[in-house]
Amino acid sequence: MTDWILRGGTVIDGTGAPRQRADVSIKGDRIAEIGTVSAAQGAGEIDVSGKVVAPGFIDVHTHDDRALFASPDMAAKASQGVTTVITGNCGVSLAPLALTQTPPPPLDLIGDAADYAYPRFADYLAALDRQPAAINAACLVGHSTLRVGAMPDLARAAGDAEIAAMGERLQEALDAGAIGMSTGLFYAPASAAPPAEIEALAKHLRHAGALYTTHMRDETEQVLDSLEESFHVGQAARVPVVISHHKTTGVRNFGRTKETLPKIAAAMQGQEIGLDAYPYIASSTVLRTQRIEDSLKVLITWSKSHPEQAGRELDAIARDWGVSVLEAADRLQPAGAIYWMMDEADVQRVLAFEHTMIGSDGLPHDVHPHPRLWGTFPRVLGHYCRDIGLFGLEVAVRKMTGLSAARFGLAGRGVLVPGAYADITVFDADTIIDRATFAAPTTPAAGIEHVFVNGQPVWSTGAATGARPGRALRRQQMRAEAR
Ligand code: ZN
Ligand code: CU
Repeated sequence: MTDWILRGGTVIDGTGAPRQRADVSIKGDRIAEIGTVSAAQGAGEIDVSGKVVAPGFIDVHTHDDRALFASPDMAAKASQGVTTVITGNCGVSLAPLALTQTPPPPLDLIGDAADYAYPRFADYLAALDRQPAAINAACLVGHSTLRVGAMPDLARAAGDAEIAAMGERLQEALDAGAIGMSTGLFYAPASAAPPAEIEALAKHLRHAGALYTTHMRDETEQVLDSLEESFHVGQAARVPVVISHHKTTGVRNFGRTKETLPKIAAAMQGQEIGLDAYPYIASSTVLRTQRIEDSLKVLITWSKSHPEQAGRELDAIARDWGVSVLEAADRLQPAGAIYWMMDEADVQRVLAFEHTMIGSDGLPHDVHPHPRLWGTFPRVLGHYCRDIGLFGLEVAVRKMTGLSAARFGLAGRGVLVPGAYADITVFDADTIIDRATFAAPTTPAAGIEHVFVNGQPVWSTGAATGARPGRALRRQQMRAEAR
C-alpha cells in the first residue's frame, strides 16, 4: 500500500542530474515510484507543484552526539531539511567513554562528565535505538575521546600499551557499527599525538572498511603540511580521508585556498579524499587565546564562569571590565566563541570546489550558537546557489546528498530512486533562505516545506511533527545493503 504521494514537484535526485517533473510515492520506509503516479486508496497526497523534491540533506559534520537525546525533534537540523547527521567529528565523540571528572575542552562542547556515560560504543548506539530521534545518525569515534579514556597525561604521544588500549576500544566501536574515526589534532587533548599514533589506530579502519575524518593540526600557516599529514594517514592505512571544515584562517592566510584546493585535487588522483565546509566566514569552537589573536572579531557563545556574557563581543566585555582582551578571555573560561577569521573569497572557492560536501559544524549546546547550526543548508541553497549563483541547484543538492552518502557509505540514502529509503526534503527554491544570524542564531530557515525520514513526516510547514523515525545507521548493515 502506498502511504504518501508527493504530487507534481520538480525532482532533483541528488546525483547532479538535471531536474525533472515527477510525482514521488512512498511505501513504508522506501521510495516506491518516481514518475507519473496514479492516485491510491488511503495514501496521503501532498501537492508539491512548484516545489523541489530532493533527497533529505546529510549534515556530514556535526557535534550532535548528545543533541539526538537532548533535542530528539532535532529541530535545528530538520528545519533545514537535514535527515541524517554524521556525529563524532573533530576528535570528539560521546562514546566510548565513561567520565567521573569534567571533560577537557573541546570534549566539554558536547557534554559534562555525567553525559560521558557510554563505556562501550555499542551502549551509545543501543541508547539511540531505545530513544530514537527524528532524524538518522551515522557515528564516528573521536580520537580525543579515546585518548581521554586511555591516557593519564594527554600532553605526550601515546605509548604502545595506550595505543593498544585505544585500538581495542576503537575496534569495539567499529564492530558495533561506527563508520570511522575522527581526529582533532588542532586541540590540546590530541595535539601531542604524532602521525604514527594516528596511523596505528587507522589500521583498524582499513579492516572494517571505515573512514578517517580530520580537523587538521593546522589551518593557518602550516595548512599545506597538515594536508600532507592527513593524506599520509590515508596512504599508510589505506583508508578514505575526509578533511573537515576546510578553510585557511587568519588574515595572513587569506587567499590560500588557491594552494590547498589544487593540492587536494592532485592527491585525489592517487587516493580517496573528501572534504566538507560550512558557508560562513566565521568559525566557532571553545575559547582559545591563539584564535583571538588571529581574528578580526570574537563573539562569546557560552561561558561557565560568566554565563551572562554569552552573545556579547569579547572586545566589549574587556572594555566593560577594564581589562585586556586576553585577561577577559581568561576570566570567561571555560567558554566558547565565534571567530571572524576567514576571507569570503576562500569560503566561496571551497564551497564551489567540485568535491566539497556541506557540513554545518553546528554546536547544539552553545547558549548563543554560531548561526551555522540552524542556517547552513538553506544558506547554501538560497544565498550561495540562488542569490550569488555560485553553482546550479542540481550541484548544490548533490553537495548535501548524493556526494555525501557516497563518501560516508550511507547505502540507500542521498539519492531519489525507487527502492531507496524515503528520506526526502521538499523546499521552495525561490524562497529558501537562512534566517539565523549572529545576533539571532536560532531562527529557523524559510522555505523548507516537508521533511520525511524513513517514510515518515518529521517536519511540515514550519514545525516538527513529533515523529521520531530516525535510526542509528550501522556500517555493517549499510555495507551489506550496498551489495
Ligand atoms: Zn573541527
Ligand atoms: Cu567540528
